[in-house]
Amino acid sequence: MKVLQVSAEIYPLLKTGGLADVAGALPAALNARGCDVRVLLPGFVTVLADMQDVRTLPELTVPWGERVLVRCAWLASLNLTAYVIDAPSMYCRNGGPYEDDQRQPYADNGRRFALLGFAAAQLALGLDDQWQPQVVHSHDWHAALAPAYMAYSRQRQATRVAAVYTVHNLAYQGVFPPELFHDLGLPGSAFSIDGLEFHGQVSFMKAGLFYADHITTVSPTYAAEIQTQAQGCGLDGLLRARAGLLTGILNGVDDSVWNPQLDPLIPFPFDADRIAGKAQCKAALQKELGLSLQSDLPLFGVVSRLTEQKGLHLVLAALPTLFSRGAQLVVLGNGEKWLEDAFREAASMHSRQLAVRIGYDEHFAHRIFSASDVTLVPSRFEPCGLTQMYGLKYGSLPLVHSVGGLADTVVESAPEHVADGLANGFVFHEFSADAFERALGRSLALYARNTDWNQVRERAMRQKLGWDQAASEYLALYQRLLAESV
Ligand code: ADP
Ligand code: GLC
Repeated sequence: MKVLQVSAEIYPLLKTGGLADVAGALPAALNARGCDVRVLLPGFVTVLADMQDVRTLPELTVPWGERVLVRCAWLASLNLTAYVIDAPSMYCRNGGPYEDDQRQPYADNGRRFALLGFAAAQLALGLDDQWQPQVVHSHDWHAALAPAYMAYSRQRQATRVAAVYTVHNLAYQGVFPPELFHDLGLPGSAFSIDGLEFHGQVSFMKAGLFYADHITTVSPTYAAEIQTQAQGCGLDGLLRARAGLLTGILNGVDDSVWNPQLDPLIPFPFDADRIAGKAQCKAALQKELGLSLQSDLPLFGVVSRLTEQKGLHLVLAALPTLFSRGAQLVVLGNGEKWLEDAFREAASMHSRQLAVRIGYDEHFAHRIFSASDVTLVPSRFEPCGLTQMYGLKYGSLPLVHSVGGLADTVVESAPEHVADGLANGFVFHEFSADAFERALGRSLALYARNTDWNQVRERAMRQKLGWDQAASEYLALYQRLLAESV
């Protein structure tokens, strides 16, 4: 089956969060099941630099008149065939993929990502005479116009191409002023409540949700949560109306990247059977960061975007408790300035117990999971969450708020769950400083019970968290959609 995956990010070429990890891992998992997956990506500098055996497709004229080239190439670092939109004026800029170096969104983000959806629909229409997808699977708002363009070009298609849209985070919607609509080249009727209009604006997210043949999101619990007013970000009504076409499919972990036995980015390898390397990783990180060199102190870790979503103000509020209990904490993250400043300031006052690195550092993230005893993920909401799963794999038990994918992957280490072998971390339910601190207390109590701790950690490390299950579910979904369309 020919599947085109469309996303703005892809690990290892461009990553700002979990979307990239998923986009980088899912194609290989599907190909292993006999699919023929290709990806469509914006031509960011790192993507262009990775292209080999380049073939250029017929020139595209985009709805606002510009001419653009799409190249088909082999991506060496992904072992994958990709279509790349080669438009340097759009994608090759100083700054990040979405924001300039002053952290301001690029003024033309509407056009930059409309182009991604438009190019996807052109591939569905047969832009490449050597390969035409049967399914176009687009991810997050950046790629969300693909289903809209496909819906309006269907009469020009000999065979129907299915449009799947995955929501990785409903909070980032890609909403633009109504003037953008004139650029998009969609029929006027699309700018309505039954279309991509959202409170008078153009919403890419709504386009994906409204026009896709099927919507998925990245965990079963989040699929239910986004249908509620509390977590629906204004789109819960539409999601309830389309509930029969909405499925939660839990992300997996890419074992070729996140495996403590084979990870070249950590100083000492280890696994559930040979755990000694983990203590060595911990000692090495304590030394690297100037923390007290004590193997018996519990080391907590945070690897996160520093945003409201991630609930890290709870961690800040709990610092006195953590320090008074003798724990250590290492934080790696970047994002909102007030959080960056607050963590930096706390670190300057407690340098033997708290190490903070503001920035984005893939290698350091691996060292933190390998060294820490507990991974903190107190998110206010979390569609899936990957760091709690990386924590599980690296024997750093996750402590999480019971929402979204966190609720689907972490089981409290209550005595009954320790006994039945299900326990793998710590879970708090009420989103409050008190509930978070009580969970911290439970993690410290288990840490003090060596045998129980080792048992829970071993079980956590042995959990199957790969992409097999998710890939099977996506494949079954594609097959069903294709069967329905004949
Ligand atoms: P989200 O996508 O909401 O940020 P996820 O848990 O799904 O959350 O994925 C986050 C991904 O980004 C993980 O791979 C995590 O290790 C990585 N990550 C987050 N912040 C940093 C950082 N500052 N440095 C390195 N990796 C980071
Ligand atoms: C989003 C979500 C995160 C999820 C990731 C990958 O960034 O915030 O919870 O794990 O996408 O699906």
